[in-house]
Formats: sequence, structure tokens, C-alpha cells
Amino acid sequence: MKLVEPSLKSLSTSMFNVEHIRADFPILKLKIDGKPLAYLDNAASSQMPQPVIDRMVRYQTTQHANINRAVHYLSETATLEYEKSRHKLKRFINANEDREVIFTSGTTDAINLVAHGYGRKFIGSGDEIILTTLEHHSNIVPWQMLAEENGAKICVVPIDDTGELLIDEYKQLFNKRTKFVGVTHVSNALGTINPIKQMIEFAHARDVPVLVDGAQAAPHMKIDVQDLDCDFYTFSGHKLCGPTGIGILYGKAALLERMQPFKGGGDMIASVTFEKTTYNTIPHKFEAGTPPIAAAIGFGAAVDYLSAVNMSTIATYEHDLITYATEQIRRIPGIRIIGAAAEKVAVLSFSVDRIHPHDIGTLLNQEGIAVRTGHHCAQPVMRHFKVPATTRASFAFYNSMIEVDALISGIQKIQKIFL
Ligand code: ALA
Repeated sequence: MKLVEPSLKSLSTSMFNVEHIRADFPILKLKIDGKPLAYLDNAASSQMPQPVIDRMVRYQTTQHANINRAVHYLSETATLEYEKSRHKLKRFINANEDREVIFTSGTTDAINLVAHGYGRKFIGSGDEIILTTLEHHSNIVPWQMLAEENGAKICVVPIDDTGELLIDEYKQLFNKRTKFVGVTHVSNALGTINPIKQMIEFAHARDVPVLVDGAQAAPHMKIDVQDLDCDFYTFSGHKLCGPTGIGILYGKAALLERMQPFKGGGDMIASVTFEKTTYNTIPHKFEAGTPPIAAAIGFGAAVDYLSAVNMSTIATYEHDLITYATEQIRRIPGIRIIGAAAEKVAVLSFSVDRIHPHDIGTLLNQEGIAVRTGHHCAQPVMRHFKVPATTRASFAFYNSMIEVDALISGIQKIQKIFL
């Protein structure tokens, strides 16, 4: 098969210099078995640019101490830098106030915080929670645990065969027992972008709050929580060129204030006696114990980096990448693309006739190409498409068209082995 060269003129982002960007990411220079690394597993975790690495080293070598605890120089510096980072995240998502941004260990931790902190208090026996077939397990299991504990019921929005939510069915699920909606902004397994603004508006007209799992959206597009009007929004640092072990939960201040803490410990209290503890104000009420300070500061540096590249430029460039990748893979016989929503981020899930995804993943690795194979922690999606697993190539703004070509050639080479 002949590859169609992407015409630079046709790229809406022809001014975007991917080689210049790639130079910021030391890991992208790696060779795997002598082949240049093509890192196409960004939906699982993205890579870190040098300015973020440098910021964390500077923190660790010149600014580290515990925060919120002492009056000495290092403690005050670390506290200030940690809070500066919160402010950067607030700006990144256009929250109204810094205190609406809670540092968590990641998206999973944030959803558990809401399931326990909000759900245990405001969702009871017989109440209904709406989720969707597209959810990652981390936006299913915490709600099931809550439902098992308190007798609530989970209702699920189905999808069609392109991987889009059936919005009419979503609307049909609402009734007077509906107390909460949890929806992913973007499907990690398929890349579908859900119409969350419309879904939030519909839920709010019925006084139902909405949590949006933004883990797969925030790396790819500009997020404006005030424009979305979501009640909660969450994502992880390590998918946004930052470190692991850190993420945020955005919540509207009035809701966060009414919620109960999920974890007890130092820093989240106002006063403690053996008779009674009173809690600190938000966001501290939800940040018990010593947080991952270096990671939080690295996360701030990561959103600075992404903002400097520009989230709209990233979205446009990645759209070109996925359009090109989809066109190319469609030309290969025996390929089934899983998920063909009209609105998608740069995620390409597929299966290849007669070849198991794990074989594809292993053999692509021999070509230096990193993809994820498996159920992607989204078993209900796999069940809908009647596949046990897919091969998933997930792109970031530092991926190049050359890497797309490498993926396509790699798949063709594997097909020849299995002929
Ligand atoms: N949720 C991550 C993924 O989709 C780990 O790969």
C-alpha cells in the first residue's frame, strides 16, 4: 500500500513545528531495539518535557519542606509554590476561585472523593445515579460501591455502533429519583467526545448535579468549567505532561462546602478534641496529610507548558493527526476501527482480522512503537463492540505524521507475518 503524504499546506496547523516541540521531550529520543521510539500510548500516560522536569528538580533541590506547618523559609516557600500551582490549575480550567481546586492523587482519587464525600451524604436508598457505557472503570466502581452500601441504583446510558451516547435515552433515564450524573468528557477507549454541555444543561434543569471525568479531555482541548457549568470536573497530571500521583478535583464552592471529608488527618481540621473535630475550610478540608508537593508544583509547570504551546493549537494539530491516521488505517484490508464518532480526540482503537491485539502490541513494540492493547479499563465498551480487547494508538501533540506512517507500516508488516 502506498502512503499518502500529508500535504503540509492542507494542515490547518502548518505553522506548528512538531520537531521544535519534540526537542523538549528527552524521552522521545530513545531507541527501542535500535528503532526510534514512536510513543503512541498517551491516553495511558503522557511524557514530560524538560521544563517540567527542571521545575521539579529546582523544587527538590532548593525549595522543599512540608507545607502549611512551619514559619521557616523553606516551609513558607514550599507552601507558596504549592498554592501558586493551585492558582495555575484554577486559571487553566477557568474556575471561579482557587479554593474550588482540590489536589488529589489523580482522577480515580477525585471520583472516589465525590462518591464518598457527596454520595454518602446526599444519595440514599432507591436514589438513582446515571452513568454511561463509555465510562472508565474508575467512574463506575466507586458508584457501585456506594450503591452496594446504601441501596442506590445505577442507570446506564447506552451507545450506538459509532461509539456515541444515545442522548435521547439519556434524557429518558431521568425521573424524580435521579440524584446524580457521572459522565466522561472523552472516552479513553474510543476517543468519543461527549456532548457534556448539553447533558449538564438537561440535568441541571432537573436539579441534578453532574461530575465530568475529564482525564482524557483536558490533555486535548481547552476546558472552561464555568462555561460547561459542571458541578465537578477532574483530571490527572500524568496525562498532561506532568508527574504521576497528582490530579485535581474541581468542584463548585457551594457544593464542596456542603460535602463531608473523605479522608481524615492532619491539615484538614480546624480543631480536634476527643469529643469532636471541626474541619478546615475548602480546599484544605479535602487534603488530609502531606500532599505530593513536588508533583503538585510539577503539575503547575506542566499546565504552564501546555498553555504556552496553546490548547487550541494542540486541538487543531491533533485533529490533523487523527484524520491522517484514520485515512491511512482505513486503506489496510482486514482492519476494523472500533469507535467512529463524529467528534473524536486523537485516539485510534482497532482490531486486525485473525491477529490478537496482544500479538499486535508485542510485534509493534519490536518496531519501536508503543501502543496499548487490552480492554483499556472500559469493559462495558468492549462488551458493546463484542471484542475482548483492542489495539489503541493514542496521540499527543508531540507525535508526528512520520510516527503515524511507522504505525501503518508496522501493522502491514505484522499482517504479512500472519499471512
Ligand atoms: N486510563 C488510562 C488508559 O486509558 C490508564 O490507558
